[in-house]
Amino acid sequence: MTTIFRLDASIRQAGSITRAVADSLQASVVARLGDATVTRRDIGLSPVPSTAWAGAVFGPYAPPEQRTAQQTEGIALAGELANELVSADAFIFAVPFYNFGVSQHFKAYVDLVHTDPRFAPGTTPIIAGRPAQLVIARGGGYGPGSPRHGWDHGTSWYRRVLEDIWKLDLDVIECELTLADVTPAMEGLRGLAAENLVKAHASAQQNGHSLASRLDAAAVLDLVAVAR
Ligand SMILES: Cc1cc2nc3c(=O)[nH]c(=O)nc-3n(C[C@H](O)[C@H](O)[C@H](O)COP(=O)(O)O)c2cc1C
Repeated sequence: MTTIFRLDASIRQAGSITRAVADSLQASVVARLGDATVTRRDIGLSPVPSTAWAGAVFGPYAPPEQRTAQQTEGIALAGELANELVSADAFIFAVPFYNFGVSQHFKAYVDLVHTDPRFAPGTTPIIAGRPAQLVIARGGGYGPGSPRHGWDHGTSWYRRVLEDIWKLDLDVIECELTLADVTPAMEGLRGLAAENLVKAHASAQQNGHSLASRLDAAAVLDLVAVAR
């Protein structure tokens, strides 16, 4: 059976755009596949502990019986996170834009994953080439001509990790101006914000269909290979 790994990093549940768009995507791919397991990791509501990273970085240099509890737990958690990734056929990462950069929880998560030998920097991870969807939401607008063009220091890092370090075959769904409805200064942008949201959900539907087709085709190839 196909396994899809989904990660959420929004610190809110109610009103979260990344969660809503990822829900559309997940519903679309699962409906099309008919049968799929979705493994979920919610680092926005249940962040990885900030102490785990140091333990996972330095623990492997000590013999197992001499490791501190923090080191043992850090190594175990990194292994669990890496296992979730390695076990998946496809990925959905739903991540917000915070303080002009990436979610601290996603950074902590990636730091921890990179301590597992299967994701050691400089190696090609076993998940390379697998399909992945990145859903990003930004409260403001950062395109050319906008006052804060160039202030988006988050999207390129998310892409760098998923596309260039983990070497996933990545599609990106972006939704901007998500704060327009609650920000008086953005009142004039509310129509555009609503259009953006509709487009993001439409892309999620479409990408879900394409992802399911791709996973179906891969499953058929696997069956053929087994039959030979
Ligand atoms: C603590 C915090 C900081 C944020 N910082 C920014 C920011 O610097 N720039 C921006 O455009 N939006 C910012 N936002 C808005 C989020 O990017 C926006 O609400 C987005 O939709 C978050 O994803 P979510 O809807 O899934 O929670 C911030 C939101 C929060 C809660």
